[in-house]
Amino acid sequence: MSEGVQTSPAFKTRVFSGIQPSGGLTLGNYLGALKRFADAQNQGIETIYCMVDMHAITVWQDPAALRRQTRELAAGFIASGVDPNRSILFNQSQVAEHAQLAWVFNCVARMGWMKRMTQFKDKAGKNAENASLGLFGYPALMAADILVYHATHVPVGEDQKQHLELTRDIATKFNHDYGVDFFPITEPVIEGTATRVMSLRDGSKKMSKSDPSDASRINMTDDAETIASKIRKARTDPDALPSEAKGLSERPEARNLVNIYAALSDQTVDEVLRDVGGRQFSEFKPMLADLAVAKLSPISSEMARLMQNPTEIDAILRKGADQARAIAAPILQQTYDIIGMVR
Ligand code: AMP
Ligand code: TRP
Repeated sequence: MSEGVQTSPAFKTRVFSGIQPSGGLTLGNYLGALKRFADAQNQGIETIYCMVDMHAITVWQDPAALRRQTRELAAGFIASGVDPNRSILFNQSQVAEHAQLAWVFNCVARMGWMKRMTQFKDKAGKNAENASLGLFGYPALMAADILVYHATHVPVGEDQKQHLELTRDIATKFNHDYGVDFFPITEPVIEGTATRVMSLRDGSKKMSKSDPSDASRINMTDDAETIASKIRKARTDPDALPSEAKGLSERPEARNLVNIYAALSDQTVDEVLRDVGGRQFSEFKPMLADLAVAKLSPISSEMARLMQNPTEIDAILRKGADQARAIAAPILQQTYDIIGMVR
């Protein structure tokens, strides 16, 4: 992972991350998460990736849709380069230790900490009294996902930063209350040019699968023509592109498109602008559309191919769950010993 990352030497480097199977994948999920998950795996680090179905049901999910979306998400992971032979890939509900440790963390975390979570406030909306108790406790389950593996690094998009700070608070309080050095203080890994991919219609809003406007996002399953047309219609300003990154600071829509280009082509923003600085969007947008189609269409066709064989996907997830449980079970047992549960 990045230079300067510090972990207690007692914990070996282990990456964990999760994505909710609560709808289709967007370019934001790909650049902010999936692509970086494959990169971490390819660096030879131990990597564990999870479809967090128990997080998904904190808001209503139709059962048939949840099942389909879980398999589709698994296909998205694999098509993006996460190799089930080199990473552990599974769905959360198959490893009961997540829920078991989450209960312990429900008793460590404080109401006041949870009330400050911006994702809860956003998702609960005006009618917080009617939100599920699970939505309120969501971050404790997320902390359990990570800490049940003693994971040291968690690659995520910018929007998950606050949840990861809470994970650190829970680990710190547990260690302090029980006088142990048992849970690692996890490092969030929020790096690269695409940690916050913005809506194509509004440069102040995150690109999201839940945005009512389909034109605001690129879905991983969009065909080439749809991708090109969404990029063509993306909001921009009338100016030409600057030749240095600082020229984008007051231009959120322009910055977003350049960030996407940089992330897709594995370049820095300055490297991209060295080539395209001075050009108009009428010239840059087709370049971006071609690049996006070239990177995304092999992934979406591989996803479609994998989806034809759901039994194969289920077998991969079952095997991943067995591997995950083998790590999680002893850590949960030690946690129970620390807190005084008789066995
Ligand atoms: P979610 O789909 O909300 O479960 O998010 C799964 C992962 O994708 C998390 O690591 C998010 O931070 C990341 N992610 C979601 N939307 C974006 C976005 N617009 N830009 C960057 N990362 C994102
Ligand atoms: N909360 C994350 C999201 O909405 C998903 C998630 C659940 C997660 N558990 C996790 C991410 C553990 C990283 C690590 O995107």
